[in-house]
Amino acid sequence: MQVLHRVDEVRRHVDAARFRGASVGLVPTMGALHAGHASLVERAAAECDEVVVTVFVNPLQFATGEDLAAYPRTLDGDVRLADTHGASVVFAPEESEMYPGGRDAVLTEVTVAGLSRRWEGSSRPTHFAGVCTVVAKLFNIVGPCRAYFGEKDFQQLAVLTRMVDDLSFPVHVVGCPTVREPDGLALSSRNVYLDPDQRREARVLSAALRDAVSAYRSGVRDAAGLREVMGNRIATATGGVVDYAVVVDRRTLEPVDRADADSRLLVAVAFGATRLLDNASVIGPVGGDDA
Ligand code: PAF
Repeated sequence: MQVLHRVDEVRRHVDAARFRGASVGLVPTMGALHAGHASLVERAAAECDEVVVTVFVNPLQFATGEDLAAYPRTLDGDVRLADTHGASVVFAPEESEMYPGGRDAVLTEVTVAGLSRRWEGSSRPTHFAGVCTVVAKLFNIVGPCRAYFGEKDFQQLAVLTRMVDDLSFPVHVVGCPTVREPDGLALSSRNVYLDPDQRREARVLSAALRDAVSAYRSGVRDAAGLREVMGNRIATATGGVVDYAVVVDRRTLEPVDRADADSRLLVAVAFGATRLLDNASVIGPVGGDDA
């Protein structure tokens, strides 16, 4: 496996691969790789001849005051994990390689209206434009046939899928299931910020989803009822502040009044400065044991 830092090196590598007829899979990441990322790399390696894992903490998707400087940076471990799980290349550019004139000199922005507005977008209004802009740039650098993203960031997956459809990127977006700790906590690079009490309480996110899935299975269709079920469970975490616990249509991400098999449960809870996200189909499953 190669570790490349420059755009022209990656282009040369993937051009040669495509010339041989190889299919190229892309796993975009911000590093601090964990078992969730490993599952994306493995899926990409199973479905593509060449797998490029990008490791780039993208400043465009952090607002002032967010955790850009503190975001964990663990390149050596990331390279080992990517290698172990089947990557052919890790592309780890410096900021100056991605944004040669500096991040403030980037005048082009990709925005997906509507889908970016609610939920994460309402507390982080510039976030998805930063994500879409860097992912569009990575698509243009790597030219993948398939790109792999976790369902854990369900809104991000919906926004990027729409970007690809609307702009006709020749890329198939593959959403991959959330990987969880045994107690149900969804893996996230930001879990390292939780102190032991917060970590213990953080299992309420997946427990709330499991409760709502059980309620749906036992016949509750009213979204208000499902929201209440989730809210009650999250309220048992004294250190958590609910940002949202909602039932939405899985494609439009708009709230629904009555749930059906196309509904998605979305939750976001802040533990101190750390916001945790989770989501599930209303018909489940949600892994993890009961909190
Ligand atoms: O999900 C992430 O890690 C990031 O938002 C992504 C898609 C790599 C873009 O920087």
